Amino acid sequence: MNTIVITGSTKGLGFALARGFRAQGHHVVVTGRTDAAVNAAVASLTETPGAGRVLGRAVDVSDPDATTALWSFAVAELGRVDIWINNAGVAHTTNPIVDTTPDAVRAMVTTNMLGTIFSTQAAVRGMTAQGGGSCSTCSVVAATARPAPTWACTAPPSAVSTCSRGPWSRRSTAPA
Ligand SMILES: NC(=O)c1ccc[n+]([C@@H]2O[C@H](COP(=O)([O-])OP(=O)(O)OC[C@H]3O[C@@H](n4cnc5c(N)ncnc54)[C@H](OP(=O)(O)O)[C@@H]3O)[C@@H](O)[C@H]2O)c1
Repeated sequence: MNTIVITGSTKGLGFALARGFRAQGHHVVVTGRTDAAVNAAVASLTETPGAGRVLGRAVDVSDPDATTALWSFAVAELGRVDIWINNAGVAHTTNPIVDTTPDAVRAMVTTNMLGTIFSTQAAVRGMTAQGGGSCSTCSVVAATARPAPTWACTAPPSAVSTCSRGPWSRRSTAPA
């Protein structure tokens, strides 16, 4: 039985991952930006089959103190974190860059890029201290493709994909 933290798991892919891991018997920690969304996800997941615990915490991943607090919360409740998945993100994928609003650009850069970096820092620091673990990031195939007119959306995942391929990542993901 593993302990798995998934950022951005109140809905969509993150929620589906949480449900799948729970079905396999693991503990899951779900997160989103609001208590209401997190509580609803925890209640919904608790109704699904699974032997592990389901915990939740409201976290905005663009706040590095919040991602550190998420690590501490998971360890305090469950002892350790075996797998940490960076999934929190916003996707304004359809507009060409010239039609993407400043607010949409800010949201994608702060959440998808800074948020992923801050979350990874929290996970890698914690896993280094505990002696192992695995940290993964949900990105987008377009991150490694030729720049498209919508690159305001693909630039942040492209940046974090580059970070994820660095040699430090292999050191930090040694088997638990
Ligand atoms: N859908 C697409 O077209 C697409 C394409 C390529 C890549 N992606 C990426 O794939 C991942 C999953 O996509 P999806 O379609 O399943 O997304 P989704 O249904 O919109 O869910 C996104 C999740 O991220 C959370 N979130 C958003 N901003 C956050 C923040 N600042 N701090 C913490 N949590 C935050 C949301 O929680 P709350 O709303 O409850 O706060 C929600 O749980 C995302 O990283 C997305 O960027 C999506």
